[in-house]
Amino acid sequence: MTDNAKRAWWSSRRAIAGTTMVVAVLTAGLTALLVNVFTRKVEQRNPYVRLVEVGEDDTDPAKWGLNWPAQYDGYKRTAERTATRFGGHGGSEAFPPEKIDRDPWLKRMFLGYAFSIDYRDRRGHAYMLEDQENTKRQSKPQTGSCLHCHASVMPLYRKLGNGDATKGFAETYKVSYTDLNKQLKELGAHPVSCVDCHDPRTMALRVTRPGFIAGIQALAASDAPVPAMPSINTWRSGKRDRPYDPNQDASRNEMRSFVCGQCHVEYYCSNKMTLTFPWGKGLRMDQEEAFWDAARFPDGSPFVDYKHAETGAPILKAQHPEFELWSQGIHARSGVACADCHMPYMREGAAKVSDHWVRSPLLNVHRACQTCHRASESEMRARVDQIQQRNDDLLERGGKAIVEMIDAIVAARQAGATDAQLATALDMQRKAQWRLDFVAAENSMGFHAPQEAARILAEALDYARQGQLAALRWNAPNPPDGGSAPPAASAGAAPAASR
Ligand code: HEC
Ligand code: HEC
Ligand code: HEC
Ligand code: HEC
Ligand code: HEC
Repeated sequence: MTDNAKRAWWSSRRAIAGTTMVVAVLTAGLTALLVNVFTRKVEQRNPYVRLVEVGEDDTDPAKWGLNWPAQYDGYKRTAERTATRFGGHGGSEAFPPEKIDRDPWLKRMFLGYAFSIDYRDRRGHAYMLEDQENTKRQSKPQTGSCLHCHASVMPLYRKLGNGDATKGFAETYKVSYTDLNKQLKELGAHPVSCVDCHDPRTMALRVTRPGFIAGIQALAASDAPVPAMPSINTWRSGKRDRPYDPNQDASRNEMRSFVCGQCHVEYYCSNKMTLTFPWGKGLRMDQEEAFWDAARFPDGSPFVDYKHAETGAPILKAQHPEFELWSQGIHARSGVACADCHMPYMREGAAKVSDHWVRSPLLNVHRACQTCHRASESEMRARVDQIQQRNDDLLERGGKAIVEMIDAIVAARQAGATDAQLATALDMQRKAQWRLDFVAAENSMGFHAPQEAARILAEALDYARQGQLAALRWNAPNPPDGGSAPPAASAGAAPAASR
């Protein structure tokens, strides 16, 4: 080649190379852009890269853990022992401490019911199934309904209902716990799992438990005020041509509490009727009481949890109403959800994840409280401690009053009092126990709604003392004006006074 030809050849090579490069860069850029747009589109529908597919029957959290290791790691830590002054459970025993030994008045209230045999402190989610299997309350035959809140049970419900979980669930109260537990084990038994709170396709929060869905529908259909649940108010002011559906109607923020409300609630769970959440007249303590007072078993008899072994009073047993008490507090009213305090956000590298180590917020004040409150950690602890201490003081006073009321009723019975003569006292016992138990069984020691808890305890004390008085005066003559007689009128007729 001549020099000129060489130069021309090189320059054309350079031109081609340059063009190729520009095209390549452009293509790469365009591809990147397209890929980016595409992934964002996919992310909108499905924001997670998945190593395995998970579906409705995958109750084993380990499988989900392959896709979401940070959440799974937190979940597993619910097996760790923790303790706070009033919450959680520490120590190294095989089982948590007995509440009924620590507070003998609890045991006295529960005489005639399995809770007087064994009632312990709660602990982390990892233990829920084994603690239920091992409680000595199982020495009295228990119902299959118990599994609703202690296992990942939806595939079993679907199987029992030929695909219809609600139908399958509705029959489980007739099956014994032992039987249903055996059937669960055949499908693979796990404590509460990812699939119970998340839609496996989108990972959006959802509720699965039939007990919760029936309960919240009844609440929506009532006219009880629900300031903490705006979507119910929206549904109420709409066409109401279909029942309220939390999975369709509730906001994401409401779901951050509803998922917990599937289990942390008051309920009826025995073998006379389907597991029932008593929300048809509202979530407040006295609205739930009115619901139970009006309730009838399928055979027409009035609703009751048990008859008190010593006095014969028809008693309502309250169970962990965290969701209900929370709903009456300032946090719920301000839109603060269970997950804000019990599953606060944390950083995992660049990502923000919810802490799936569900536990006492006092183990984690920095993330659980100080995201909203400016006070120091020690100040926040002190505020909680003050609320809990006051609540505990009132609770112990209430326990003493109830024991003295039961003593007075027992003494009246020994002196020959009939059911009719003790009607008022027995009614007062039912009211007082329901109130004291409502706050004692609730697990925040008053924190979730301090003023509401104090109101309930004040009523418990009042009813207990009224019941005691009525028992002391069981054979006092009716005062001529029909008004209430002074306590002195019963002086000679009160065997309890000779104690
Ligand atoms: C504003 C924060 C906050 C909100 C919201 C909240 N809690 Fe709590 N919760 C607490 C505190 C504080 C305690 C007391 C912990 C202790 O004594 O160690 C507690 C205690 C508990 C306990 C007992 C914990 C233990 O370690 O024994 C349970 C269960 C519980 N809450 C469930 C719920 C549920 C369910 C909801 C929603 C319906 C909820 N909480 C809403 C702050 C909150
Ligand atoms: C499927 C039912 C179920 C659901 C859903 C559920 N819990 Fe629980 N939770 C339980 C049971 C049962 C226990 C007690 C386990 C035991 O003592 O063996 C428990 C225990 C706890 C404890 C005590 C932990 C400890 O270390 O002492 C806290 C706090 C708690 N739950 C909060 C929540 C919150 C917050 C939610 C919602 C994000 C929630 N739970 C959802 C059933 C449930
Ligand atoms: C509506 C949900 C729900 C149902 C139904 C339910 N539990 Fe629980 N259970 C819970 C929650 C929430 C806790 C943790 C809070 C607590 O211990 O107060 C718990 C705690 C327990 C514990 C540990 C603390 C204790 O009481 O000693 C045992 C054992 C237990 N349940 C047994 C049972 C049995 C037996 C049944 C059936 C009669 C049953 N549960 C039905 C929600 C439920
Ligand atoms: C008791 C209910 C409950 C269970 C069980 C549960 N989660 Fe969650 N999860 C939540 C809540 C509440 C959030 C917060 C969602 C929000 O703010 O929208 C959440 C959020 C998430 C998110 C979204 C990102 C984040 O961290 O906020 C992922 C992913 C997730 N969970 C995975 C899992 C996996 C995996 C499991 C099982 C190992 C699991 N979850 C079990 C209640 C639950
Ligand atoms: C998401 C925000 C948020 C979180 C998280 C939160 N709080 Fe609050 N807290 C509030 C709001 C809002 C109020 C209502 C007072 C107000 O509007 O200023 C409040 C009120 C309170 C009160 C006064 C209660 C009363 O009855 O007057 C106490 C005490 C309190 N919070 C303690 C805590 C503790 C302890 C934690 C952590 C376990 C916590 N809060 C977590 C937002 C939050």
